[in-house]
Amino acid sequence: MCGIVGYSGEKLAKPILVNGLLKLEYRGYDSAGISTIESNGISNIKVKGRVKALEDIPEINTLSGTIGIAHTRWATHGKPSTVNSHPHLDNSKSFAVVHNGIIENYAELRKFLTDNEYVFASQTDTEVVPNLIHYYYDTNNYSFLEAVQKACNDLKGSFALEIISSLFPDTMIVVRKDSPLVIGKGNGETYISSDIPALLSFTKDFYLLNDLEYAVIKKGEIEFYNKDLEPIKKDVKTMEWDASSAEKDGYEDYMLKEIHEQPRAVRETVGSHLRKNMPCEFDELNIPHLRDYSQIYIVACGTAMHAGLVAKNLFEKLCHLPTFVDIASEFRYRDPIIGKETLAIFVSQSGETADTIAALKLAKAKGATTIAISNVIGSSITREADYYTYTHAGPEIAVASTKAYTSQIVLLSMIAIFFAERLRTVGNDVLDNIKNEIMQLPEKVTTVIEKNKPQIEKLAKTISKEKDVFFIGRGPDYNVAQEGSLKLKEISYIHSEAYAAGELKHGTIALIENGITVVAIMTDEALMEKTISNIQEVITRGAKTVVVTNLELPNKKYDYIFEIPKTSSLISPVLSVIPLQLLAYYVSKEKGLDVDKPRNLAKSVTVE
Ligand code: G6P
Repeated sequence: MCGIVGYSGEKLAKPILVNGLLKLEYRGYDSAGISTIESNGISNIKVKGRVKALEDIPEINTLSGTIGIAHTRWATHGKPSTVNSHPHLDNSKSFAVVHNGIIENYAELRKFLTDNEYVFASQTDTEVVPNLIHYYYDTNNYSFLEAVQKACNDLKGSFALEIISSLFPDTMIVVRKDSPLVIGKGNGETYISSDIPALLSFTKDFYLLNDLEYAVIKKGEIEFYNKDLEPIKKDVKTMEWDASSAEKDGYEDYMLKEIHEQPRAVRETVGSHLRKNMPCEFDELNIPHLRDYSQIYIVACGTAMHAGLVAKNLFEKLCHLPTFVDIASEFRYRDPIIGKETLAIFVSQSGETADTIAALKLAKAKGATTIAISNVIGSSITREADYYTYTHAGPEIAVASTKAYTSQIVLLSMIAIFFAERLRTVGNDVLDNIKNEIMQLPEKVTTVIEKNKPQIEKLAKTISKEKDVFFIGRGPDYNVAQEGSLKLKEISYIHSEAYAAGELKHGTIALIENGITVVAIMTDEALMEKTISNIQEVITRGAKTVVVTNLELPNKKYDYIFEIPKTSSLISPVLSVIPLQLLAYYVSKEKGLDVDKPRNLAKSVTVE
């Protein structure tokens, strides 16, 4: 949802800003722009299209400023166009602003400013911001920082803002509220970005701002202020990711790289939580009085929610606690019945998804104990929650999530085991068995990838010509079907649906006709016969069938069979999802699409 980047130092700002934008393009890519402070004031170059289009504008090579801000946009208010692109300037062209988020009361502010003779060039919500800053600066004799603070006090909604001014050519001010922004500490220089990976080639040391904290940046000097403009101190956080983890490393696309990184992501997520014949360790989740909780909620969006669906089975089977999984945007508006007896787990790769953060705040306000699971150290969700723990998947850049999903399932499974050990709800033999299975997953993930890739590429050629694909399964296999279907539709634009195999005959089977592909996932011996009957029902109606399984099938009358190693059916999604990720990837490639940046989507949805 828009990427913002900034630089203040001794070097030329332009190449650093463009490099940052290219890394943030996964957040939005319908227009891009850059502003630097030049000797004659603020230069502002912007264009509809990708960062490449911005780089192709000859004027950009004339920029010689050493302080600047830049933006790659995912349109909310105002269609993608050059005039709607950021940075936006105030009427006097003294203040330039880039913004990620949504100003909900922009119409009201625009009216106020129009009444005060300001004029607007764009249809965006953002353009009110530089004008409001100018208004406070001009009419009240405020300092740069005071003018920014007064303007921010008027804003409703979410914002990460970078502001530069021709009146204060050596100063940049940044502030955030409910939108992500990190400050990278350099040597006599400072970098700003919407996320950490975009800056890893420059620094591993970061400052993280809380809501409505301000940073006033002059090259390497940074002063921090709270919302009342009282000076505050901030500690530097050093990130463990290295720069190469945010590069493609010879792979054609980030998604393919991230699929192949899953063995490592899973291994690092298991980390020191599990050791042979030892209780599971989670020092960070030592929640007192665990027995007092009567229900668990898992709340998330998109793929993270799908990981939650898999985890529901684990919490119910191992902890004997009713577990509900909810979509964050639904949860937050339906007055859920939760209270102090509820353990609410919020899962978010980025830790910045607006709906998930809002859902967490709501759960907290209702008295629930909240746990955040994120892949990004210090992300907003971890700062809001009572407890937090991390997946260690490394930076995930492709819009379609892969390694974060499998790492989330592994982490949630270990939390379920950890709680079950404390609650003594199931025998140690059951838990030891699952622990052993989890520890073997990295190797098995490698096997799935190596064994199935060539056949999947072949199948992708056929599927790429199709209009509809159906995914079916039962239990955790149904949850994988949901994730497989989402992967396919988001990057190949082929319509697909996931159905609980037994539910197919209650409607969807009407859509099955000659030549349609149905992908069935089957990893639970106890349910095998039932699912086989459902597959037979679609074969009878002319469907082509693809089966992902680790079972001994009584016969092999299916068009494609992808075999995966055996494991506990509770965690089998970590393996069975991989052929589906690869299938979506190769179908998208076959169609010549941009796998990493599918149309209309963004990696991190920081607006509701
Ligand atoms: C977007 C992304 C998905 C992701 C979802 C939730 O829709 O495209 O890949 O699963 O947001 O993101 P989060 O960062 O909260 O896991």
